[in-house]
Amino acid sequence: MLSPMLESIDSIEVTQNNLTHIHNQTIVTGDRPTGPLHLGHYVGSLQNRLLLQENNEVFIIIADTQVMNNDITKCAQVRNNTLDVMRDYLAVGLDPNKVHFFLQSEVPQLFELTNYLSNIVSLPSIMRIPTIKSENQMYNAEEKPLNMGFLNYPISQTADIILFDGQYVPVGIDQTPILDFANDVIDKFHHTFKSQLKNEKIFNRIHALLSNNSKLMGLDGNNKMSKSLNNAIFLSNTEQEIEAKVKSMYTDCNHLKISDPGQVEGNMVFTFLDVFHKNKEEVMELKNHYQRGGLGDMTLKKLLMQDIKDIVLPIAQKRSQYTDQYLKDILQAGNEYAKNKAKIKMDKIKDIMFS
Ligand code: TRP
Repeated sequence: MLSPMLESIDSIEVTQNNLTHIHNQTIVTGDRPTGPLHLGHYVGSLQNRLLLQENNEVFIIIADTQVMNNDITKCAQVRNNTLDVMRDYLAVGLDPNKVHFFLQSEVPQLFELTNYLSNIVSLPSIMRIPTIKSENQMYNAEEKPLNMGFLNYPISQTADIILFDGQYVPVGIDQTPILDFANDVIDKFHHTFKSQLKNEKIFNRIHALLSNNSKLMGLDGNNKMSKSLNNAIFLSNTEQEIEAKVKSMYTDCNHLKISDPGQVEGNMVFTFLDVFHKNKEEVMELKNHYQRGGLGDMTLKKLLMQDIKDIVLPIAQKRSQYTDQYLKDILQAGNEYAKNKAKIKMDKIKDIMFS
């Protein structure tokens, strides 16, 4: 059964067909709490999670220690960001009765496992991971040293998943190399301890679940939607903010008069309508009309504003209903559940290693 939220946005291309056959699996996913979530998160991951929570055990890790890898001095902000993210989760329809939400920093076994796993991971295998490689190049260019925490994050993310027996991991496309890496670590662990394991496996191999929209472009059309690039529409935005943001979107800079023929490719308003406008036939007609000339940018933008408001405003309204204490209580319960589960698994892992 789809949640009412999803029924109202069934035009968005989610990997619904691929996801509905996933039943009775353990799903582990997470977000770094860098601030409130935006439409990119919504179409890229939150919608998938709404589907997955119906028939699976879902763990959502708020990666509050991973976020410190970039800049540990910013951690004062992390607590507030965590509540913002929780607010977004609940407002989109993630259900605390179905999902275990927890904080990475509250599960000590994650650090324990990360530490053990570091001994079976080589530095070159870390340096091959694209996110690490590009960050390393950037740091080299600026003659800054990369910190160990950052180098360790693929191992810590592997621990996040395997400590909870994750089988499926919904992530953005940029995270898939980390999941490949995680599978290598799992194989290496099994190989290293094969005599203790007596041909049994203690970890599941993991599968990525990608959404069709895992890279929603930002309003500027140059980059993926991101808070730090200031090109995002947040799930907490007001009607006025949505209107202003859509108005500011680039269309075709040669489309000066309404009667001018306009270009559709690279026109961000059409890119967004493709994602958010339910009536696909209408979008086709609008594209044709725009290319012929005679269709104004503002007409298109008004349509898009309405589509976005239909999604965001009910979420924004719900967000305001949750008190901080309510959110903290949910997290507290999730932390406890995760800690218990982690303890049991960590004991088994240690039994294998030390036997
Ligand atoms: N690295 C992920 C991100 O930046 C967050 C994350 C942390 C995660 N641990 C995870 C995602 C485990 C999936 C599984 O979005």
